[in-house]
Amino acid sequence: MVLRKDFIDIQDFSSDELFHLILLIEVTKEATKSRALPELLHKASLAMIFEEPSTRTRVSFEVAMTNLGGHALYLRPGEIHLGARETIADTARVLSRMVDGIEARLLHHKDILELAKYSSVPVINGLTDLQHPTQVLSDVFTMYEHSGMIRGLNLTFVGDSTNVANSLMAISTKMGINYTQATPRKYQPLPELLKQAEENARESGSRLLITEEVEEAVKDADFIYTDLWWWVGQEHEAEERLKAFMPRYQVNERLLSLAPKHVKVMHCLPASRGMEITDEVMDGPRSIVFDQAENRLHTEEALLIAFIYPRLAKPRYEGGNRYLDRIENVLARFSY
Ligand code: CP
Repeated sequence: MVLRKDFIDIQDFSSDELFHLILLIEVTKEATKSRALPELLHKASLAMIFEEPSTRTRVSFEVAMTNLGGHALYLRPGEIHLGARETIADTARVLSRMVDGIEARLLHHKDILELAKYSSVPVINGLTDLQHPTQVLSDVFTMYEHSGMIRGLNLTFVGDSTNVANSLMAISTKMGINYTQATPRKYQPLPELLKQAEENARESGSRLLITEEVEEAVKDADFIYTDLWWWVGQEHEAEERLKAFMPRYQVNERLLSLAPKHVKVMHCLPASRGMEITDEVMDGPRSIVFDQAENRLHTEEALLIAFIYPRLAKPRYEGGNRYLDRIENVLARFSY
C-alpha cells in the first residue's frame, strides 16, 4: 500500500487504506489518553491555512501537533499573501521549504488541488466547498467505537448535501456501510459525486439510496447524521432552505421514534440548535456528537503520523549530537 502524499478526497483512497488509518486512530486515542503518545513529529512544523472560521479542525490539528512534539502555525488570509499578492503555487513552494506539512481549509476545492500540486510536503484537507475528509474518517472511527463494526452498518444522513455529506457518502460506499440520504430533491448530491458513490457501492457491496422519504430512510438506521442547512455564503438562501427542510427533515424526537431503539445521533458540529437538530436530541441519550468532536483530535494525530512522519529525516542523537559542538563553536564567537 503506497499511501499518496496528500489527504484531500476520500475517493483517492482504498477501503483497505481507510481501514488502516482507522486502526491508527484507535492507537493514537489510547496512547494520548495514557499520555504516552510518542513525539514522532519532534521539531516538525505544520502550516494551517484557514480561509473560513473553525473550532474543531483548528484546535484538533494544533493540539495534535503539540502532542506529537511538533509545532503548528495558524495562517489566515490577510495575514499571508495566498491568492492575493502571491499565487497558490508560489505559496505552496515557499511553505514546502519551511514546514513539514500543510493543513488547509479553503473555500474552493480546486484551490486545495492546486496547493497540493505545487507542495512537496503533504497537504491535508481541513474542509472545502466539496469535501471534509478528516471529519468523516473520524466519524467512521466513532461509529466503529460505538458498534464494533464498519461493514454492514446502516447510516442515514438527513439534510442538505453538504461537504460532510459528500464525504460521508464516499467513505460509506467505499467501506461497505449502507448509506441512505434523505434530502429534498433540489438539494440532493451532485450527479458526478453520486456516480462515483454508485461505483464504490458496486465494488464494496454496500447499499446506496438517495430519497426524499425521510420517515422511510430512518427506519433501519444504526446511526442518523445531520448537518447545517446552510453555510457561510448561503445566508441569502436561508428562507428558501428553511421552507424546504423544516419541519420534515429536522432530527427531533418525532423522527427518532420512527428509527430503531438503538439508533445513535451524529452531527459534525457546529449545530444550529432548533433548526436541523433539536436541543432535546442533541443533549439526549442517543447523541454521540461530542464523542465525534473529541475523535477529531485522535484522527488528526493519526493522519499527521501517517502522512508526515515517514517523510521526515530521522534525527541522529545516539552517542551525542554531532551538530552540537559545531553550533557551540560558532556561538562561542558571540558575546551576549
Ligand atoms: N466539524 C468541523 O469541521 O468543525 P469546525 O468548523 O469547528 O472545524
